[in-house]
Amino acid sequence: MNLPPFKLERFFAKYEFNTEYLLCSSDCEAMSVADLLALEEGAAQKFQQVWLGYTESQGSPALRAEICKLYETMQPENILVHTGAEEAIFLFMYAAFKEYDHVIVHSPGYQSLAEVARAAGCDVSPWRAREENGWSLDLDELRHLMRTNTKAIIINTPHNPTGYLMTRTDYEAVHKFAQENKLLLFSDEVYRESEYDPATRLPAGCDLGDYAISLGVTSKTYGLAGLRIGWIATKNKKIYERMAGFKDYTTICNSAPSEFLAEVAMRNRDKLVERNVGIIKDNLSVMDGFFSRHADSFSWVRPQAGSMAFPRLLKGDVEKFCDELVKEAGVLLLPGSLYDDSRNHFRIGLGRKNLPQAVERFEQFLKK
Ligand SMILES: Cc1ncc(COP(=O)(O)O)c(C=O)c1O
Repeated sequence: MNLPPFKLERFFAKYEFNTEYLLCSSDCEAMSVADLLALEEGAAQKFQQVWLGYTESQGSPALRAEICKLYETMQPENILVHTGAEEAIFLFMYAAFKEYDHVIVHSPGYQSLAEVARAAGCDVSPWRAREENGWSLDLDELRHLMRTNTKAIIINTPHNPTGYLMTRTDYEAVHKFAQENKLLLFSDEVYRESEYDPATRLPAGCDLGDYAISLGVTSKTYGLAGLRIGWIATKNKKIYERMAGFKDYTTICNSAPSEFLAEVAMRNRDKLVERNVGIIKDNLSVMDGFFSRHADSFSWVRPQAGSMAFPRLLKGDVEKFCDELVKEAGVLLLPGSLYDDSRNHFRIGLGRKNLPQAVERFEQFLKK
């Protein structure tokens, strides 16, 4: 196994816990255990009784039943709970691929979606989203990327880092393409339910056929990254069983307290979504104002979903710019070079409550 450093994680390791304003986080504002338990009468008392033995490897039946409510056709036996979405990505790639398989991966994107496939021996073709097209993907390009040994398409919508939400027509076309060509479709849906207009929410991949695997997590839309609870949902028994088998070599089972807390969170997810999408929308109006005041310095493609956007610095070098900003003003932005983007983009996070203060600092820095 040959895994290069995860650039984004190494970057956060350097700054996350010593920088005053994180203006590039991908997750929404978190909350305390007490605040989460207060969402449901009796939950705090029940939490005291959680048994600290090993848990069921595939995830507790109660948690899996709650997770099923995100989907139309899933049953608890279709859900495999993991330690974060990251473990699920890792196990999926090793379960699904062998050396010399070819996979097509939405790009730019979360590094492990391409890197773990590469480490598993696959040849990876990026399927590029472009700013000039509003970060959409071109279906003709997908057809051209297809090879005889193509095994899977990996998409992420709502998208990290651009906040792009695929149109329903394109989404259905990608599914049709995967199905017709007998490909697996790994659908990273960790930002699902954060659409600014709920009417634009796409069907979950797993509900559309057994070639699709949906990825979910409590970290992003629901703002509970510290639980480290993620899952896959799929009717694909072969992939499910292989992943479940590999999990015996990674974490065996999930943390019992986290599973209980995740169950409470998922049962009350409407309240979490309302709170967090509310924060994002307030922050978006702050960012709209910022980018209209600084239109000569930045390009701004407004996201349609999720807690991130990927604007572009029009003059200068983005790495140097981000470095000066964090050193002089204590505001962290994430340079696009960490996504192998060479066009001066940077990532901003929209899910944190202190964004208005961070932007104020950012603006003072720009005035200097
Ligand atoms: C698109 C995407 N998939 C998966 C993950 C992994 O989620 P987690 O860190 O909660 O395991 C992330 C985290 O940033 C992500 O952005």
